[in-house]
Amino acid sequence: MKKSTLTLMVALVALLCSGTAFSGVEFLRGGQEIQDPSKAPDKRKQEIVKGSFDRSYKIQPPMIPHTIEKEEISLRVNTCMKCHSEKTYKEKKAPKAGDSHYVTRDGKVLETVSSRRYFCNQCHALQLDAAPLVENVFAGAK
Ligand code: HEC
Ligand code: HEC
Repeated sequence: MKKSTLTLMVALVALLCSGTAFSGVEFLRGGQEIQDPSKAPDKRKQEIVKGSFDRSYKIQPPMIPHTIEKEEISLRVNTCMKCHSEKTYKEKKAPKAGDSHYVTRDGKVLETVSSRRYFCNQCHALQLDAAPLVENVFAGAK
């Protein structure tokens, strides 16, 4: 082995052992040791607003402004539609699920919500009052 290669290897091993190779890098686990059990995440409160959240772009699925703890979406029931369906929205003073929600992938307009849009929370999400994990400078197009 060449002398220079050997010197390089010794230097690398020394660097790794001293733990300085990763200094300055911040991990999502913070200062917690890798072998420690994960800490339970902080309990965050859902953000509830009157009306709607601003959308970041025109066809963004609007975010859910109210609690949904008691709602159920299963094979048998979709309780979101107790308020957001064409039959109920006026009485419940809720916005009707968009017309796009009634169209099949072949472009057929149905009377009830299309299976493509059945699982509401696949697209519509709650909001939590939490700081972003990494800096984000995205600005919505309004
Ligand atoms: C008891 C009636 C009711 C139920 C059940 C309900 N909603 Fe709503 N929803 C409303 C009302 C009323 C609004 C209008 C804003 C407000 O007053 O909170 C709304 C607003 C929304 C909005 C915002 C629309 C926009 O344009 O910003 C979304 C998205 C939404 N609901 C999704 C859901 C989903 C998904 C479920 C089921 C998990 C659900 N809702 C269940 C009554 C309801
Ligand atoms: C595949 C994604 C997707 C699913 C699943 C979905 N939505 Fe939406 N939703 C959207 C998008 C995108 C918009 C905004 C554009 C539009 O109206 O199509 C929207 C808009 C809405 C609006 C606002 C309509 C308006 O006129 O402002 C309501 C209310 C809503 N959805 C309720 C629901 C409910 C209730 C369900 C479940 C039965 C559901 N959505 C399932 C994507 C989805």
